[in-house]
Amino acid sequence: MRILNTMAARAIPFVPRSLIRKISRRYIAGATLADALDRIRSLHAAGYSTTLDLLGETVSSPTEVEAVVLEHLTLIDALHADGLRTELSIKPSAFGLLLDEASCKRHVLRILDAATTRGITACLDMEDVTCTQKTLDLFARIETANANMGIALQAYLKRTYDDIGPLQHRMNRLRICKGIYAEAETHLVADASRNRNAINEHFVRHVSSALRAGSFVGIATHDETLIESLITWIQREEIEPDRFEFQMLLGVGEPLRERLRSMGFQVRVYVPYGHDWYGYSTRRIKENPRIAGYILRALLSGN
Ligand code: FDA
Repeated sequence: MRILNTMAARAIPFVPRSLIRKISRRYIAGATLADALDRIRSLHAAGYSTTLDLLGETVSSPTEVEAVVLEHLTLIDALHADGLRTELSIKPSAFGLLLDEASCKRHVLRILDAATTRGITACLDMEDVTCTQKTLDLFARIETANANMGIALQAYLKRTYDDIGPLQHRMNRLRICKGIYAEAETHLVADASRNRNAINEHFVRHVSSALRAGSFVGIATHDETLIESLITWIQREEIEPDRFEFQMLLGVGEPLRERLRSMGFQVRVYVPYGHDWYGYSTRRIKENPRIAGYILRALLSGN
Protein backbone atom coordinates (compact mmCIF):
# COMPACT_ATOMS: atom_id res chain seq x y z
CA MET A 1 0.00 0.00 0.00
CA ARG A 2 2.84 2.35 0.94
CA ILE A 3 4.47 1.78 -2.47
CA LEU A 4 1.21 2.50 -4.31
CA ASN A 5 0.68 5.70 -2.32
CA THR A 6 4.24 6.84 -3.02
CA MET A 7 3.82 6.12 -6.73
CA ALA A 8 0.56 8.11 -6.76
CA ALA A 9 2.30 11.01 -4.98
CA ARG A 10 5.27 10.96 -7.40
CA ALA A 11 2.90 11.12 -10.36
CA ILE A 12 1.49 14.47 -9.17
CA PRO A 13 3.76 16.75 -11.29
CA PHE A 14 2.50 14.91 -14.39
CA VAL A 15 -1.18 15.24 -13.55
CA PRO A 16 -2.79 18.08 -15.54
CA ARG A 17 -3.61 21.18 -13.48
CA SER A 18 -7.24 20.93 -14.59
CA LEU A 19 -7.51 17.45 -13.06
CA ILE A 20 -5.91 18.61 -9.79
CA ARG A 21 -8.44 21.44 -9.74
CA LYS A 22 -11.30 18.99 -10.26
CA ILE A 23 -10.05 16.74 -7.45
CA SER A 24 -9.34 19.65 -5.12
CA ARG A 25 -12.91 20.99 -5.48
CA ARG A 26 -14.01 18.28 -3.13
CA TYR A 27 -11.54 19.37 -0.44
CA ILE A 28 -11.36 23.12 -0.99
CA ALA A 29 -14.34 25.49 -0.99
CA GLY A 30 -12.94 27.49 -3.91
CA ALA A 31 -10.47 30.23 -4.75
CA THR A 32 -12.47 33.21 -3.48
CA LEU A 33 -13.92 34.47 -0.24
CA ALA A 34 -17.39 34.32 -1.83
CA ASP A 35 -16.87 30.57 -2.45
CA ALA A 36 -15.92 30.07 1.19
CA LEU A 37 -18.90 32.05 2.50
CA ASP A 38 -21.30 30.02 0.30
CA ARG A 39 -19.88 26.76 1.62
CA ILE A 40 -20.01 27.94 5.22
CA ARG A 41 -23.62 29.05 4.87
CA SER A 42 -24.70 25.68 3.50
CA LEU A 43 -22.78 23.74 6.19
CA HIS A 44 -24.32 25.87 8.94
CA ALA A 45 -27.77 25.33 7.41
CA ALA A 46 -27.13 21.57 7.55
CA GLY A 47 -26.33 21.77 11.28
CA TYR A 48 -22.52 21.84 11.25
CA SER A 49 -20.20 24.43 12.69
CA THR A 50 -17.11 25.40 10.70
CA THR A 51 -13.47 26.39 10.82
CA LEU A 52 -12.29 28.60 7.99
CA ASP A 53 -8.76 28.22 6.66
CA LEU A 54 -7.28 30.74 4.25
CA LEU A 55 -4.77 28.66 2.29
CA GLY A 56 -1.11 29.58 2.51
CA GLU A 57 1.79 28.58 4.73
CA THR A 58 5.36 29.71 5.34
CA VAL A 59 6.00 33.24 4.08
CA SER A 60 9.42 34.61 3.24
CA SER A 61 9.10 38.38 3.78
CA PRO A 62 7.34 40.96 5.98
CA THR A 63 5.49 42.19 2.87
CA GLU A 64 3.97 38.76 2.40
CA VAL A 65 2.99 38.66 6.07
CA GLU A 66 1.27 42.04 5.72
CA ALA A 67 -0.73 40.72 2.76
CA VAL A 68 -1.83 37.67 4.81
CA VAL A 69 -2.90 39.93 7.68
CA LEU A 70 -4.94 42.15 5.37
CA GLU A 71 -6.63 39.13 3.78
CA HIS A 72 -7.62 37.86 7.22
CA LEU A 73 -9.00 41.25 8.23
CA THR A 74 -11.08 41.36 5.04
CA LEU A 75 -12.29 37.87 5.74
CA ILE A 76 -13.32 38.77 9.29
CA ASP A 77 -15.26 41.80 8.05
CA ALA A 78 -17.04 39.68 5.43
CA LEU A 79 -17.99 37.04 8.00
CA HIS A 80 -19.30 39.73 10.30
CA ALA A 81 -21.29 41.43 7.53
CA ASP A 82 -22.94 38.08 6.77
CA GLY A 83 -23.56 37.31 10.45
CA LEU A 84 -21.52 34.10 10.14
CA ARG A 85 -20.04 32.82 13.39
CA THR A 86 -17.17 30.55 12.61
CA GLU A 87 -13.70 29.67 13.87
CA LEU A 88 -10.58 30.91 12.07
CA SER A 89 -7.68 28.57 11.60
CA ILE A 90 -4.40 30.39 12.07
CA LYS A 91 -1.23 28.91 10.57
CA PRO A 92 1.56 30.67 12.51
CA SER A 93 4.11 30.26 9.71
CA ALA A 94 1.85 32.32 7.42
CA PHE A 95 2.13 35.17 9.96
CA GLY A 96 5.93 35.01 9.93
CA LEU A 97 6.56 32.65 12.88
CA LEU A 98 9.83 31.51 11.33
CA LEU A 99 10.88 35.08 10.40
CA ASP A 100 10.28 37.07 13.57
CA GLU A 101 8.36 35.70 16.56
CA ALA A 102 7.64 39.08 18.15
CA SER A 103 6.00 40.54 15.07
CA CYS A 104 4.19 37.26 14.42
CA LYS A 105 2.61 37.66 17.85
CA ARG A 106 1.59 41.25 17.08
CA HIS A 107 -0.03 40.18 13.80
CA VAL A 108 -1.91 37.26 15.31
CA LEU A 109 -3.14 39.45 18.16
CA ARG A 110 -4.39 42.01 15.66
CA ILE A 111 -6.39 39.29 13.90
CA LEU A 112 -7.67 37.88 17.17
CA ASP A 113 -8.81 41.24 18.47
CA ALA A 114 -10.68 41.95 15.23
CA ALA A 115 -12.23 38.46 15.35
CA THR A 116 -13.21 38.57 19.03
CA THR A 117 -15.14 41.82 18.72
CA ARG A 118 -17.14 40.17 15.91
CA GLY A 119 -17.93 36.93 17.76
CA ILE A 120 -15.40 34.83 15.82
CA THR A 121 -13.07 32.39 17.60
CA ALA A 122 -9.71 31.04 16.40
CA CYS A 123 -7.45 28.01 16.66
CA LEU A 124 -3.68 27.82 16.08
CA ASP A 125 -2.93 24.97 13.68
CA MET A 126 0.13 22.91 14.57
CA GLU A 127 2.63 22.69 11.70
CA ASP A 128 5.83 20.64 11.41
CA VAL A 129 8.34 20.23 14.27
CA THR A 130 10.33 23.29 13.27
CA CYS A 131 7.25 25.23 14.42
CA THR A 132 6.10 23.23 17.47
CA GLN A 133 7.91 25.01 20.31
CA LYS A 134 7.54 28.43 18.68
CA THR A 135 3.79 27.83 18.24
CA LEU A 136 3.39 26.81 21.89
CA ASP A 137 5.36 29.89 22.97
CA LEU A 138 3.20 32.07 20.74
CA PHE A 139 0.06 30.55 22.22
CA ALA A 140 1.30 31.12 25.78
CA ARG A 141 2.04 34.78 25.02
CA ILE A 142 -1.26 35.39 23.24
CA GLU A 143 -3.35 33.60 25.81
CA THR A 144 -2.66 36.23 28.44
CA ALA A 145 -3.82 39.01 26.10
CA ASN A 146 -6.72 37.22 24.41
CA ALA A 147 -8.33 34.05 25.72
CA ASN A 148 -10.37 33.55 22.55
CA MET A 149 -8.06 30.98 21.02
CA GLY A 150 -7.49 27.21 20.98
CA ILE A 151 -4.48 25.20 19.81
CA ALA A 152 -3.95 21.94 17.91
CA LEU A 153 -1.73 19.11 19.22
CA GLN A 154 -0.49 16.10 17.28
CA ALA A 155 -0.81 12.57 18.68
CA TYR A 156 2.12 11.31 16.55
CA LEU A 157 4.64 13.46 18.44
CA LYS A 158 6.33 12.13 21.57
CA ARG A 159 6.54 15.59 23.04
CA THR A 160 2.75 16.01 23.09
CA TYR A 161 2.72 14.10 26.41
CA ASP A 162 4.71 16.98 27.92
CA ASP A 163 3.08 19.77 25.96
CA ILE A 164 -0.51 18.87 26.81
CA GLY A 165 0.01 19.05 30.61
CA PRO A 166 0.13 22.85 31.11
CA LEU A 167 -2.50 23.43 28.40
CA GLN A 168 -5.09 21.16 29.96
CA HIS A 169 -4.15 22.44 33.42
CA ARG A 170 -5.23 25.89 32.20
CA MET A 171 -8.30 24.24 30.59
CA ASN A 172 -7.41 25.55 27.16
CA ARG A 173 -9.51 24.66 24.14
CA LEU A 174 -7.61 21.89 22.35
CA ARG A 175 -7.82 20.20 18.97
CA ILE A 176 -6.30 16.73 18.99
CA CYS A 177 -5.27 15.37 15.58
CA LYS A 178 -2.96 12.56 14.48
CA GLY A 179 -0.49 14.88 12.69
CA ILE A 180 0.00 15.27 8.96
CA TYR A 181 3.66 16.14 8.36
CA ALA A 182 6.41 13.71 7.36
CA GLU A 183 8.58 14.12 10.47
CA ALA A 184 11.82 12.32 11.30
CA GLU A 185 11.32 9.19 13.40
CA THR A 186 13.19 10.68 16.37
CA HIS A 187 10.24 13.00 17.00
CA LEU A 188 7.53 10.39 16.66
CA VAL A 189 5.88 8.22 19.30
CA ALA A 190 6.99 4.59 19.18
CA ASP A 191 5.79 2.74 16.08
CA ALA A 192 4.09 5.80 14.63
CA SER A 193 5.79 5.64 11.26
CA ARG A 194 5.24 1.92 10.73
CA ASN A 195 2.03 1.23 12.55
CA ARG A 196 -0.64 3.86 12.24
CA ASN A 197 -2.79 2.02 14.81
CA ALA A 198 -0.17 2.85 17.43
CA ILE A 199 -1.00 6.54 17.08
CA ASN A 200 -4.62 5.84 17.96
CA GLU A 201 -3.66 4.71 21.43
CA HIS A 202 -1.88 8.02 22.03
CA PHE A 203 -4.76 9.95 20.49
CA VAL A 204 -7.22 8.32 22.93
CA ARG A 205 -4.94 9.08 25.89
CA HIS A 206 -4.66 12.76 24.95
CA VAL A 207 -8.39 13.20 24.35
CA SER A 208 -9.32 11.45 27.58
CA SER A 209 -6.80 13.26 29.76
CA ALA A 210 -7.77 16.68 28.33
CA LEU A 211 -11.47 15.97 28.85
CA ARG A 212 -10.86 14.76 32.40
CA ALA A 213 -8.87 17.94 33.10
CA GLY A 214 -11.77 20.12 31.94
CA SER A 215 -10.57 21.28 28.51
CA PHE A 216 -12.97 21.58 25.60
CA VAL A 217 -11.69 19.06 23.03
CA GLY A 218 -11.97 19.03 19.24
CA ILE A 219 -11.58 15.39 18.17
CA ALA A 220 -10.11 15.91 14.68
CA THR A 221 -10.14 12.60 12.84
CA HIS A 222 -12.06 10.62 10.20
CA ASP A 223 -10.93 7.30 11.64
CA GLU A 224 -14.15 5.43 12.35
CA THR A 225 -12.65 2.84 14.71
CA LEU A 226 -10.95 5.55 16.72
CA ILE A 227 -14.15 7.61 16.88
CA GLU A 228 -16.17 4.58 18.00
CA SER A 229 -13.77 3.77 20.81
CA LEU A 230 -13.80 7.39 21.95
CA ILE A 231 -17.60 7.50 21.94
CA THR A 232 -17.66 4.35 24.10
CA TRP A 233 -15.23 5.97 26.55
CA ILE A 234 -17.11 9.31 26.55
CA GLN A 235 -20.43 7.61 27.25
CA ARG A 236 -18.97 5.45 30.00
CA GLU A 237 -17.44 8.53 31.66
CA GLU A 238 -20.69 10.49 31.15
CA ILE A 239 -18.87 13.40 29.52
CA GLU A 240 -21.41 16.09 28.59
CA PRO A 241 -21.81 16.58 24.81
CA ASP A 242 -21.02 20.29 25.08
CA ARG A 243 -17.49 19.46 26.31
CA PHE A 244 -16.23 18.20 22.95
CA GLU A 245 -16.90 18.12 19.22
CA PHE A 246 -15.85 16.02 16.27
CA GLN A 247 -13.93 17.83 13.55
CA MET A 248 -13.44 16.75 9.96
CA LEU A 249 -11.89 18.15 6.82
CA LEU A 250 -14.16 19.34 4.02
CA GLY A 251 -14.87 16.51 1.56
CA VAL A 252 -13.64 13.73 3.86
CA GLY A 253 -15.78 11.21 5.76
CA GLU A 254 -19.10 12.82 4.84
CA PRO A 255 -21.35 9.82 5.69
CA LEU A 256 -19.55 9.48 9.03
CA ARG A 257 -19.91 13.16 9.88
CA GLU A 258 -23.62 12.99 9.00
CA ARG A 259 -24.07 9.97 11.25
CA LEU A 260 -22.34 11.70 14.16
CA ARG A 261 -24.49 14.77 13.71
CA SER A 262 -27.67 12.68 13.64
CA MET A 263 -26.53 11.01 16.89
CA GLY A 264 -26.64 14.48 18.44
CA PHE A 265 -22.90 15.19 18.55
CA GLN A 266 -21.46 18.58 17.59
CA VAL A 267 -19.50 18.33 14.35
CA ARG A 268 -17.23 21.01 12.91
CA VAL A 269 -16.07 21.01 9.30
CA TYR A 270 -12.68 22.53 8.40
CA VAL A 271 -13.11 24.56 5.23
CA PRO A 272 -9.97 25.61 3.30
CA TYR A 273 -10.22 28.19 0.53
CA GLY A 274 -7.94 30.52 -1.40
CA HIS A 275 -5.97 31.15 -4.55
CA ASP A 276 -3.20 28.83 -3.41
CA TRP A 277 -5.42 25.76 -4.05
CA TYR A 278 -2.95 24.21 -6.52
CA GLY A 279 0.14 24.66 -4.31
CA TYR A 280 -1.77 23.48 -1.24
CA SER A 281 -3.15 20.34 -2.90
CA THR A 282 0.14 19.27 -4.46
CA ARG A 283 2.24 20.09 -1.35
CA ARG A 284 -0.07 18.05 0.88
CA ILE A 285 0.02 15.08 -1.44
CA LYS A 286 3.81 15.19 -1.84
CA GLU A 287 4.37 15.61 1.91
CA ASN A 288 2.09 12.77 2.80
CA PRO A 289 1.72 10.06 0.14
CA ARG A 290 -1.07 8.48 2.19
CA ILE A 291 -3.31 11.36 1.08
CA ALA A 292 -2.68 10.47 -2.58
CA GLY A 293 -3.84 6.95 -1.76
CA TYR A 294 -7.00 8.19 0.04
CA ILE A 295 -7.90 10.46 -2.84
CA LEU A 296 -7.33 7.75 -5.40
CA ARG A 297 -9.52 5.30 -3.45
CA ALA A 298 -12.24 7.92 -2.90
CA LEU A 299 -12.28 8.71 -6.64
CA LEU A 300 -12.39 5.05 -7.64
CA SER A 301 -15.15 4.22 -5.18
CA GLY A 302 -17.17 7.28 -6.26
CA ASN A 303 -17.59 8.38 -2.59
P1 FDA B 1 -6.26 8.31 9.02
O1 FDA B 1 -5.14 8.96 8.30
O2 FDA B 1 -6.03 6.97 9.61
O3 FDA B 1 -7.54 8.30 8.08
C1 FDA B 1 -8.74 7.61 8.45
C2 FDA B 1 -9.60 7.50 7.20
O4 FDA B 1 -10.05 8.79 6.80
C3 FDA B 1 -8.82 6.98 5.96
O5 FDA B 1 -8.85 5.58 5.91
C4 FDA B 1 -9.53 7.63 4.81
O6 FDA B 1 -10.66 6.87 4.47
C5 FDA B 1 -10.03 8.94 5.39
N1 FDA B 1 -9.17 10.11 5.07
C6 FDA B 1 -8.29 10.73 5.90
N2 FDA B 1 -7.73 11.80 5.28
C7 FDA B 1 -8.25 11.83 4.03
C8 FDA B 1 -8.08 12.69 2.89
N3 FDA B 1 -7.26 13.75 2.92
N4 FDA B 1 -8.81 12.41 1.76
C9 FDA B 1 -9.66 11.37 1.71
N5 FDA B 1 -9.87 10.51 2.75
C10 FDA B 1 -9.17 10.73 3.89
N6 FDA B 1 -2.72 17.95 11.17
C11 FDA B 1 -1.68 18.65 11.69
O7 FDA B 1 -0.54 18.19 11.65
N7 FDA B 1 -1.89 19.89 12.24
C12 FDA B 1 -3.14 20.46 12.34
O8 FDA B 1 -3.29 21.56 12.87
C13 FDA B 1 -4.23 19.70 11.80
N8 FDA B 1 -5.49 20.21 11.84
C14 FDA B 1 -6.56 19.41 11.47
C15 FDA B 1 -7.86 19.86 11.63
C16 FDA B 1 -8.93 19.02 11.32
C17 FDA B 1 -10.32 19.50 11.52
C18 FDA B 1 -8.68 17.69 10.84
C19 FDA B 1 -9.81 16.74 10.56
C20 FDA B 1 -7.40 17.26 10.64
C21 FDA B 1 -6.33 18.11 10.94
N9 FDA B 1 -5.02 17.70 10.72
C22 FDA B 1 -3.99 18.45 11.22
C23 FDA B 1 -4.74 16.48 9.91
C24 FDA B 1 -4.61 15.25 10.79
O9 FDA B 1 -3.44 15.33 11.56
C25 FDA B 1 -4.56 13.96 9.93
O10 FDA B 1 -3.42 13.93 9.15
C26 FDA B 1 -5.74 13.76 9.01
O11 FDA B 1 -6.93 14.11 9.67
C27 FDA B 1 -5.85 12.29 8.56
O12 FDA B 1 -5.85 11.44 9.67
P2 FDA B 1 -7.15 10.74 10.30
O13 FDA B 1 -7.16 11.05 11.75
O14 FDA B 1 -8.38 11.05 9.58
O15 FDA B 1 -6.76 9.20 10.23
